[in-house]
Amino acid sequence: MDITILGIESSCDDTSAAVIRNTTLLSNVIASQAVHIKYGGVIPELASRAHQQNIIPVVDTALKEAGVTPDKIDAIAFTRGPGLLGSLLVGTSFAKGLSIAHNIPMVEVNHLQGHILSHFIDLPDSEIAHPSYPFLCLLVSGGHTQIVKVSSPLEMEIIGTTIDDAAGEAFDKCAKVMGLPYPGGPVIDRLAKEGNPKAFEFAKPHVKGEFDYSFSGLKTSFLYTLRDAVATDPDFVEKNKADLCASLQHTIVSILLDKLIKATKALGIKDVAIAGGVSANSGLRDAVAEAGRRRGWRTFLPPLKFTTDNAAMIAISGYYRYKQGLITGLDVSPVARLEEIL
Ligand code: KG4
Ligand code: ZN
Repeated sequence: MDITILGIESSCDDTSAAVIRNTTLLSNVIASQAVHIKYGGVIPELASRAHQQNIIPVVDTALKEAGVTPDKIDAIAFTRGPGLLGSLLVGTSFAKGLSIAHNIPMVEVNHLQGHILSHFIDLPDSEIAHPSYPFLCLLVSGGHTQIVKVSSPLEMEIIGTTIDDAAGEAFDKCAKVMGLPYPGGPVIDRLAKEGNPKAFEFAKPHVKGEFDYSFSGLKTSFLYTLRDAVATDPDFVEKNKADLCASLQHTIVSILLDKLIKATKALGIKDVAIAGGVSANSGLRDAVAEAGRRRGWRTFLPPLKFTTDNAAMIAISGYYRYKQGLITGLDVSPVARLEEIL
């Protein structure tokens, strides 16, 4: 029997709804919030207000594009966390309302597991290769950086994690220092293509945990390089933007790769995936593909539309949970932090 899931994502600054039938995506609608651009970062209060404005039209469009009415939906999957509490509340409350109104069960989804399971979304018109279990996934987003061992859709173990900033945060904060718009990751990616990745050298971390990451030292080292250079030449950043972006990206990617390679060796796993917003980065994608060619991995790079936040990944995660009978009660409340959800 077919299972149809409506997915709702509202953890940060994208309001998204998607419909999936079994593992095949029928629709995936995303409303990004332009309201934060002028502040150079996400303002939580504005994000939840924008979610409130967007959620009804976004869900309505997703259902229409999929050609599905609420009575054909088996379950509503929603992001319970981690994320901004006010934003999560909008999605969770909307899911509850829809659940009560149409008598449809709810399924809670961990946003990070969603990013990882985006590798199992099938598209109606094209074949996408899926990793085999167990595989390793480098999960790199704006808020998290982890190496995860994935043994099944519901069994995931964090092997390594960042002890301070996330990789996406490193991109965004360094971009801000250079006066680039938010989010800085995609802008640095674009500018890096014109620059020399060896032009500047920034500090690389020495972290105790064998598979753990740290990015705050790199951020400080980047900041000091700029501060010292600007003191003698105020136009330094403008003149060296491409080289700075290329060198920064090169450093972040090599930090990410070092530990990922270590983990594949230690665990003897050769199916390697990347996921999360930073997995859109062209330098990281090229480096993972290259490492895979050299080391005999099967590498899995998500389609770009599934790298940043989207509800398709929430819907596919909901599908696997629903199949296992994991229904969530109406008394559920969202959680902001990862520790509270795993
Ligand atoms: O997964 P995501 O959409 O949201 C979170 O769950 O955090 O990730 C957002 C992050 C931001 O830090 C953004 O700068 C980064 O992903 N990002 C990129 C690229 N596209 C998005 N970073 C580097 N290169 C990109 N092309
Ligand atoms: Zn995300």
